[in-house]
Amino acid sequence: MGYTDVYESWKADPEGFWMAAAQGIDWVRPPSKALFDEKAPIYEWFSDGLVNTCWNAVDRHVEAGRGDQLALIHDSPVTRSTKGLTYGELRDRVASLAGALRAKGIEKGDRVIIYMPMIPEAVEAMLACARIGAIHSVVFGGFAANELAVRIDDCTPKAIIAASCGIEPGRIVHYKPLLDRALEQASHQPDFCVIFQREQEVCKLTPGRDVAWHSFQYGVEPAECVPVEGNHPAYILYTSGTTGQPKGVVRHTAGHLVALNWTMPNIYGIQPGDVFWAASDVGWVVGHSYICYGPLISGATSIVFEGKPVGTPDAGTFWRVIQNHKVKSFFTAPTAIRAVKREDPDGELIGDYNLRGLQAVFLAGERADPDTIQWLEDKLGLPVIDHWWQTETGWAIAANPFGIGTLPVKRGSPAKPMPGYDVHVLDEAGHPVPPGTLGAIAIRLPLPPGTLPTLWNAEPRFLKSYLDHFPGYYETGDAGYIDEDGYLYIMARTDDVINVAGHRLSTGAMEEVLSSHPDVAECAVIGVADKLKGQMPLGFLCLRKGAANPPETVVSEVVALVRERIGPVAAFKSACVVDRLPKTRSGKILRATMAKIADGEEYRMPATIDDPAILDEIREALNDIGQVPK
Ligand code: COA
Ligand code: AMP
Repeated sequence: MGYTDVYESWKADPEGFWMAAAQGIDWVRPPSKALFDEKAPIYEWFSDGLVNTCWNAVDRHVEAGRGDQLALIHDSPVTRSTKGLTYGELRDRVASLAGALRAKGIEKGDRVIIYMPMIPEAVEAMLACARIGAIHSVVFGGFAANELAVRIDDCTPKAIIAASCGIEPGRIVHYKPLLDRALEQASHQPDFCVIFQREQEVCKLTPGRDVAWHSFQYGVEPAECVPVEGNHPAYILYTSGTTGQPKGVVRHTAGHLVALNWTMPNIYGIQPGDVFWAASDVGWVVGHSYICYGPLISGATSIVFEGKPVGTPDAGTFWRVIQNHKVKSFFTAPTAIRAVKREDPDGELIGDYNLRGLQAVFLAGERADPDTIQWLEDKLGLPVIDHWWQTETGWAIAANPFGIGTLPVKRGSPAKPMPGYDVHVLDEAGHPVPPGTLGAIAIRLPLPPGTLPTLWNAEPRFLKSYLDHFPGYYETGDAGYIDEDGYLYIMARTDDVINVAGHRLSTGAMEEVLSSHPDVAECAVIGVADKLKGQMPLGFLCLRKGAANPPETVVSEVVALVRERIGPVAAFKSACVVDRLPKTRSGKILRATMAKIADGEEYRMPATIDDPAILDEIREALNDIGQVPK
C-alpha cells in the first residue's frame, strides 16, 4: 500500500488502523479498544491495556534471539572512543540499575530526573525508569542550573540521575556543580542522587545525598519489568512556551509504543537489525523518540553520538559514523547540514567515505530551506526527507513516508500528513482557508496515539495553550499553508517561540531575564534570521532614567545573565539599547514588525501602531549594531 491508501485506510477506520498497529507491541493485557474519548477533549489511547516499555524496547528482542545484536553504539569523537552494547548486555545493565533504584525506594509513578550527556548510561537510565514504571524527565545539558531547578520543582523527583560531566568541544560541562546549584535553588529536594563518574572529570559526591552509579548497584536484585496501564505516563519532557515556566509535555506509555513502532518501518524504512542514527541529544524529543525508544522498540541498532557536525574533528564526522556503523537511515537538523556545508562546500569529505549502506536522510527540528536540501541531495545522490513535528506530538505530523513509497518531493514542504493527523489551516476566526492561503495550522481532535494527552500538573494550561483557541482542534503554534496537492508548508511560529540551531527557545523566558536587570525598564526579544542557526535571539532594551550603568555595560551584563539563568544553548549574544519600543495603541509590543525590519523584509505599517516614527529609531539602532545594512 502506498501513502494515499494507508492514509485513507486510517481515515476510513481510525480505531481499526490503530488496533492493527497495536499488534506490533507485546502486551501483558491487550487493550479492549484504541481510543478512550470519555473525557473529551482530553483523549487517551489504549488506556486499559497493560504493558511495559522496557520489555518492548529490550527484553523481547533478547527473548526473540537478538541478544547478541548491538542495541546501542556509543560513538564519541570528543573522547575518541567507540563502544557497542548488545541487547543482552543492555537488558542486564538496565535490570541492575532498575533494581538498585527500586531498592532505594523508587516505585511506579515516582518521578526521576535524568541530567546526562550523550552516553549510553543516559539511555540506560531512561529504560531503567520505564522498567519499574517510574516517570523520567530528561533535562538537556545545555540548560543552566536555574532551568534544572524549575523542572525539579515542577515534577518533584524522588531521585536525580546525573553524570559528573559532559564534554563540549573546548570545554568540560561541569554537571555536578550545576546539579548542586540547582538543588540550592529548588524548594523540592530528591531523596537521593545517582552520579555516574566519567573519567574526564570525577566529582566529589555529596555525603548523605549522592550514591555512585556502580556501587549502589552492588548486590541488588535485578528488577523485572513492571506492567503499567496504557495511560500511565512514560515520561515528562519540558519544552519552551511563551513564558519562563516551561511546559511539561506528558507522554502516555501505550500510545507512545504503538506510534513509534509504526513509524520505524513506515516513515524511516527501518527493520529489525538495521542501524538507525538520529544525531540529536537525549534532552530533546528527537532523542527520546529516535535515539532511545523508536529504534529499540523496533529491534534496530541506535547510535548515541557525542560530538558535533563540525569540529569533532571535521565536517566529515557524519559520513565517518555512517560508514563505520553501516547506518541505513540518518536523521539530523538542517542547521547541522548547513554547518557541514559551510566547512565543506563542495562535499569533498563525503567522497572519502563509503556511504553505500545509507538509504535516506531525514531532517526536522526547524524549517528545512530548499538550498540545504538541494545541496545534500546533490552531494549524496539520495532522498533527503523533510518532516515536521513537535515535542508535543512525539512523532511526525507530516512527512514523506520513505518506508511506504516516497511521494514526489516538493522542496520547502515536509510533504503530507501522517495517518492520525487531520491537518487544517485556519483563519483567526477558526474557518478553514483555501489552498495556498497562509493561516494557523491546527489538527482536528483527537490527536493520534503517542501525542501529548495533557501537561504535567497543568491541565488548565494545556487547554488554554492548545485547545481553547480553535474548539475541536489542537493548535500547533505554527503558521503555514497547504497547496493544491495537499502538501504542507510550515512558515513561522505564531507565538513567542524561536528556533535556534534546531533548539526550541522562548523569547518570553529571555525577556523575563532581561527585565530582572535593575537598569532595564522595558525590553523585547525577537528571533532574527541567521544563515547557520536559522534564527538567533536579539534583545531590545529601554533603560531606566538614572540607570547605574552605561548602555554597553548593561548589554554585556544581560548577555551574561541569560547564559547564567537559561544556559549557553540560548545563544543570546546581542542586544541594542533604544529609547522606546514600538507598540500598538493598546500597548502590545510589535515584535513581528521589529523582526521583519531586522531581517530586511518588507512589512506593512501596522494599522494600530501608536507612533510610526519609532520604527525608524529601531532601524537606526539595528544599523548601529550591524544587524541591517545602512
Ligand atoms: N551541554 C552543554 N552545553 C551545550 C550543549 C550541551 N549538551 N549543547 C550545546 N551547548 C552549548 C554550546 O557549547 C554553545 O556554547 P558556547 O556559547 O560556549 O559556544 C552553546 O550551547 C550554543 O550551542 P549551539 O547553538 O549548538 O551552537 P554551536 O556553535 O555549539 O554549534 C551547530 C552549532 C549548528 C554545529 C550545532 O548547533 C548543532 O549541531 N546543531 C544541531 C542541533 C540538533 O541536533 N538539534 C536537535 C533537534 S533535532
Ligand atoms: P520542538 O518541539 O523542539 O521539536 O520544536 C517544534 C517546532 O520546530 C515546530 O513547532 C516548528 O516550529 C519547528 N519545526 C520542527 N520541524 C520542522 C520542519 N520540518 N519544518 C518547519 N518547522 C519545523
